[in-house]
Amino acid sequence: MRLTRTAIVRVTCFYFMQNTILVTGGAGFIGSNFILQRMERDAASIVNLDGLTYAGNLRNLDAIAGNPRYEFVHGDIGDRGLVRSLLQRCRPRAIVHFAAESHVDRSIRGPDDFIRTNVDGTFALLEETRAYWPGLDERERADFRFLQVSTDEVYGSLGPDDRPFRETTAYAPNSPYAASKAASDHLVRAYRHTYGLPTLTTNCSNNYGRFQFPEKLIPLMILNARDGKPLPVYGDGQNVRDWLYVEDHCEAIATVLARGRAGETYNVGGWNEKKNLEIVETICDLVDEFAPRGGASRRELITFVKDRPGHDRRYAMDARKIERELNWKPKETFESGIRKTVRWYLENEEWVRDVTSGSYRKWIETHYSPEAEPRRS
Ligand code: NAD
Ligand code: DAU
Repeated sequence: MRLTRTAIVRVTCFYFMQNTILVTGGAGFIGSNFILQRMERDAASIVNLDGLTYAGNLRNLDAIAGNPRYEFVHGDIGDRGLVRSLLQRCRPRAIVHFAAESHVDRSIRGPDDFIRTNVDGTFALLEETRAYWPGLDERERADFRFLQVSTDEVYGSLGPDDRPFRETTAYAPNSPYAASKAASDHLVRAYRHTYGLPTLTTNCSNNYGRFQFPEKLIPLMILNARDGKPLPVYGDGQNVRDWLYVEDHCEAIATVLARGRAGETYNVGGWNEKKNLEIVETICDLVDEFAPRGGASRRELITFVKDRPGHDRRYAMDARKIERELNWKPKETFESGIRKTVRWYLENEEWVRDVTSGSYRKWIETHYSPEAEPRRS
C-alpha cells in the first residue's frame, strides 16, 4: 500500500501516543544535541517543534531524519492553535522547553524578539499545557512533566569572592536576555504554584560543544583563529563563566526529567570557572596544535575591544543539589571537552561553511514547503 504523507504522520502519531516527548527549539545548539543523545539512549519518541530562526539548523539532525521515532514540526511556540493541535495529536508525556532567543549581545541590540519568544512564547506554551494536562487520565497526569530549560544568568553577577549561585539565590537578571528568561521562569513557577502543573526548572551555566552557532564565544574564537582573523575579547577579558560540555547538560536534563521532583529547580554546572581570556588562549593553543600556521601563535590575534554594556563579571554554579538528590555530575573534563570541540569545528567544514555563509537557510527553503501539515525533516 502506498501511504500519503498525511497517512504517514497519522500512523506515526498513533505509534507515538504512549511515550512521546515534545521538545521545543530542538534545531538549536542544545536542543539538537539533546534530541540526538536521547534518540540514541532512550526508547521515547520525540516531536521537535522549532520555528527555525537564524539559530535553528535542521542539518544538526540529519542523522535521525527518517527515524520513525522522530518528527519535526515547523512552527512558533507562540502559535497557540498549532501548539494545541500538536498536544492533542501527539499526547506527549513531557515537554522539554528549549526554544528561546539565546544570545545576550542580540538582546542588547534589539530585545523585542526576546520578549516575544522567551516571555510571550513561554506563556502561550504554558497556557496550552494548562488546557491539555487536566484532560490526561489519572496516571498520565501524575507522570506528566513540563521542563523549563533556563540559565544561570537569571541570578545576576557575582563578585570574585561571592559564593556560587544556589537554587535559593534571588533572581537579579541584568541583560534583556536574562530578564526575559527570568520572566519565563517566574511564569513556570506560578503555573506550578497556582494550577499545580508538574513543572521542573533547570538553570545551567555556559555550554560548549558541536552545533553551537558561531556568534557565541567558543565557536567564534575557533573559527576566527582558524582563519587568522582578530579574536575580539570584550573589556579586559577577566569576566568569569562556568563552562559545561553540552552532552553533560543534556544528560542532566534527562536526569531531572526522569527523577526530578515536580515543582523543583536544579542548578546545573561544570565546577569549571574560567576567565574569558584563558578560554581564548586555550583555543589559540589548540588551533595551533591541530592546524599549525608556520610557527606563529594564534594568541597574536587576540584583540581587546569595547566591553559589552552591563557585562556580568562572574557566574558560578553550586550544583550540589542535583548531585546529591539525582546523582548527576559532569563526566567530561574541560580539557577533553574543549579538545573535542575545537577538533569538531575544524573537521566539519561543510557545517561551518553552511552556517557562516547562510546557505543552511537556503537548504531549509528548498527542503521545507510551508504547508500547514507538520513534516519530517
Ligand atoms: P539556540 O539559540 O542555539 O537555539 C534556540 C532554538 O529555538 C533554535 O532552534 C530556534 O530556531 C528556536 N526558536 C527560537 N524562537 C522560537 C519560537 N518562537 N518558536 C519555536 N522555536 C523557536 O539556543 P541554545 O543555546 O541551544 O539554548 C537553548 C535553551 O537553553 C535556551 O532556552 C537557553 O536560554 C538555554 N540555555 C542555554 C545555555 C547556553 O550556554 N547556550 C546555557 C543555559 C541555558
Ligand atoms: O551562562 C549561560 C548563558 O551562556 C546562556 O544562558 C546564553 O544563552 C549563552 O549565550 C551564554 O551567554 P554568554 O553571554 O555568557 O555567552 P557568550 O558566548 O556570548 O559570551 C561568553 C563570554 O565571552 C561573555 O563574558 C562575553 C565574552 N565575549 C563574547 C563574545 C561573543 C567576548 O569577550 N567576545 C565575544 O566576541
